[in-house]
Amino acid sequence: MAIQLQQVSYTYADRSLWRQTALHDINLNIAKGSMVGIAGATGSGKSTLLQLFNGILKPSQGTVKVLDVTIQAGEKAPRLLPLRRRVGLVFQFPEQQMFEETVEKDLIFGPLNFGMSPEEAKMRARQAMTDMGLDLALLERNPFRLSGGQMRKAAIASVLAMDPEIIVLDEPTATLDPLSRAELIGLLERLCREQGRTIVIVTHRMDELLPYADQWALLKEGRMAFQGSGQELAADPDILESCGLSVPHSLRYWNAVARRFGLEGEKPCLTAESLAERIALLQAEGMRDRHE
Ligand SMILES: Nc1ncnc2c1ncn2[C@@H]1O[C@H](COP(=O)(O)OP(=O)(O)O)[C@@H](O)[C@H]1O
Ligand SMILES: [Mg+2]
Repeated sequence: MAIQLQQVSYTYADRSLWRQTALHDINLNIAKGSMVGIAGATGSGKSTLLQLFNGILKPSQGTVKVLDVTIQAGEKAPRLLPLRRRVGLVFQFPEQQMFEETVEKDLIFGPLNFGMSPEEAKMRARQAMTDMGLDLALLERNPFRLSGGQMRKAAIASVLAMDPEIIVLDEPTATLDPLSRAELIGLLERLCREQGRTIVIVTHRMDELLPYADQWALLKEGRMAFQGSGQELAADPDILESCGLSVPHSLRYWNAVARRFGLEGEKPCLTAESLAERIALLQAEGMRDRHE
């Protein structure tokens, strides 16, 4: 397992007497090399959950296991610095954390900090740019001169440059235009399928991730409301509404086709292309039946 949470609760304690329990009794398994979506209404605990994955937050109760590191409530935490390199956390609006005068300086900052040589850091920076579909010429640019989509990708590249085994992203497509959103999800999918990295994405646009995610976790008021595949979710769309989420268009279309043609229980077709293929197949079957 890449990430395993056992009966984890997390309570924010501030100086006042007000204590906010953001997560209650969470059990979660994320397999190595998988692509996982996390969804839930605003305030349901998604960002809190992500910060447990690389030790920025420590569980108030329960156990968090990430790769070979175990963080247990009430016990002294192990050294977490190596984990921070192996688990890359991309915060919401990551471009706000870019601060150097060139993209390259931003990209080598992390690798140098974690002890890579300057040559290796530069090599990793170039690889990360390529992996994020960015032209190497942009390395010399001021990050604030990039377009919104380029800046977002460069900010993700600066996490990727540390060569993390797990990449956790908080709403990575927020505020991007539809084409950039689809492109970014495609790039993240390749980091998973071609490079074997575990990719965890918090999203409130389930539609864009549904065809690619192996697993989903839905949070409701700090509790785990659902864990399973898109296929299992398709069979139980009411769970989405009970979590305050709208049913993704792709699931609505699939469920309508499935009801109309009696395909319930079949693996759902969650892209326009696969749905069209499935309907074409039904049509061909219908014509064959008529000829027989
Ligand atoms: N730093 C904080 N201090 C106190 N409470 C917080 C803090 N951050 C988040 N919370 C509370 O924890 C709950 C979960 O928040 P969060 O994890 O940000 O949810 P989401 O990312 O799903 O919107 C919310 O009730 C929020 O108000
Ligand atoms: Mg959040």
